[in-house]
Amino acid sequence: MADPNAVAKMEKIVALCKRRGFIFQSSEIYGGLNGAWDYGPLGVELKRNLKDYWWKCMTQLRDDIVGFDGSILMNRAVWKASGHEDTFSDPMVECPITKKRFRPDQVEPQSGTVYSYAGVNITSFMRTEETPGAISAIIWTGDTPMTYLEKIPFKVLIPNGKGDSFAEKVAKQFYSQRGFKDFELVLTSKEPIENSTAFNPENGVLLSEPRIFNLMLKTYIGPVQDDSAITYLRPETAQSMFTQFKNVLDVSQKKLPFGIAQIGKAFRNEINPRNFTFRSREFEQMEVEFFVKPGTGPEWLEKWREERLAWYEAIGIPRAKIHVLTVPEKDRAFYSQGTYDLEYEFPFGVQELEGIAHRGNYDLKQHQEASGKPLEYFDEESKTKYLPEVVEPSAGVDRTVLALLCEAYDEETIKDEESGKEETRVVLRFAPRIAPIKAAIFPLLKNKPELVAIARDVYKSLQPLLKVAYADTAAIGRRYRRMDEVGTPFGITIDFETLEGAKEASTSATGANISAGQKDTVTLRHRDTMKQERIAIADLPAYLLSKIS
Ligand code: GAP
Repeated sequence: MADPNAVAKMEKIVALCKRRGFIFQSSEIYGGLNGAWDYGPLGVELKRNLKDYWWKCMTQLRDDIVGFDGSILMNRAVWKASGHEDTFSDPMVECPITKKRFRPDQVEPQSGTVYSYAGVNITSFMRTEETPGAISAIIWTGDTPMTYLEKIPFKVLIPNGKGDSFAEKVAKQFYSQRGFKDFELVLTSKEPIENSTAFNPENGVLLSEPRIFNLMLKTYIGPVQDDSAITYLRPETAQSMFTQFKNVLDVSQKKLPFGIAQIGKAFRNEINPRNFTFRSREFEQMEVEFFVKPGTGPEWLEKWREERLAWYEAIGIPRAKIHVLTVPEKDRAFYSQGTYDLEYEFPFGVQELEGIAHRGNYDLKQHQEASGKPLEYFDEESKTKYLPEVVEPSAGVDRTVLALLCEAYDEETIKDEESGKEETRVVLRFAPRIAPIKAAIFPLLKNKPELVAIARDVYKSLQPLLKVAYADTAAIGRRYRRMDEVGTPFGITIDFETLEGAKEASTSATGANISAGQKDTVTLRHRDTMKQERIAIADLPAYLLSKIS
């Protein structure tokens, strides 16, 4: 059962994202497209700050990783060799009425009443009478979860089953063959459910048995749409880094251990996109393929786990909110020799943000064999050739943006600075380095040309250095509040003390002394504490830059 507070929080975040221009539904005016999202003016800044910081940490602050930008479309042979064409798939169950598909592991088993009628093909429906109005369904009849299915009590109603022993027999066989034990057959004179006007498929149906669906989005290259023209939109950015391993190695002249970093779009035909942007069909990944000497994969897996946890902390996601899951062997991707999932406490549950996998030499080996081109590394020290192992930290951009929004979202009751009335302040407490707008510049009054002139000058002087906003409409309290809601860490107000000199001596935000009467100072307001202090205009650039880096 979902926690109502968590649901409410998520709804507020989604509403804020739309209201303030972080994230919109794709194709909204046409009813949207499930699993696709557009980032608005503030969302794109947030996302860019996140990607830039990752890029800087990987390719600028380290000597052992180089950057890369591969194409989304690749030769189909890549996906055959990597194993994606055959194995990148999920089992799915289908609703016979709506044709919607669900991942079996995401369908809650429920008890209820199954309506069953017999014919050449038996079809069964199930309504959740214990949970009237509950959406989605129900139970599935695959191989694995039989143990828990056995525990579910339910009734099988045989409509029009006035002693119809054939229907009864078939129904009994149907359910017992599928491992259901705790069911009761009830003959009823009711109409078959699909003829009943009361039937609402959203109330639940017995889903189909799980079938395997490939998650790659297929497309055709060129004018003829036949088999030879098939390729896929990449489901991960990783493969282009494997196929170009040799070229990158040659041009960068790196020695092991060394890595290739890439940020880019990936596409998956997810069965059930959900939780806002969390599971999308089009999303971005930030991946490093880190090539290491054979045998050293496990040790690098540990190093990367620590490195990545520290990175999340640096963007404002505390370590305590990240759960490290050691993925059990049975749940690991087929190529993995060991995987950690870094999971975040989203309002809708603890869910994966990033996977860190020890892929062994699986990918290079596959591509070497399938292409016939050598992808080995020549080790100068040992004078031997070998295929390196790979450790891969693979993070989702959109999921991290969502985690940042969830982590930053806060509400508090405050007294309005002007009216003194109590009100709710919504604030996004982004770390300054990822905040979409770093500082907002406000002339206290928009009809005082002296204030406006200085405010424009301050704005123009900061604009080349960082993303700043200028706001002169509404009362100053309202302007502060609007900037709090989008997570702007600093407010800079040009007021009468700027013109006439500071009322009293104080210590500036930079630690410098401001003497009473000193001109060219401004009010600096801090988003999180709402504390205000004075700072000299001349000190603003250095101060702000130090705070955001
Ligand atoms: N190259 C390895 C790989 O792709 P993955 O665990 O399938 O591994 C890595 O994906 C990351 O990509 C995930 O941890 C997640 O952050 C992101 N991701 C995967 N599928 C996603 C989806 N449908 N929507 C949004 N992000 C997704």
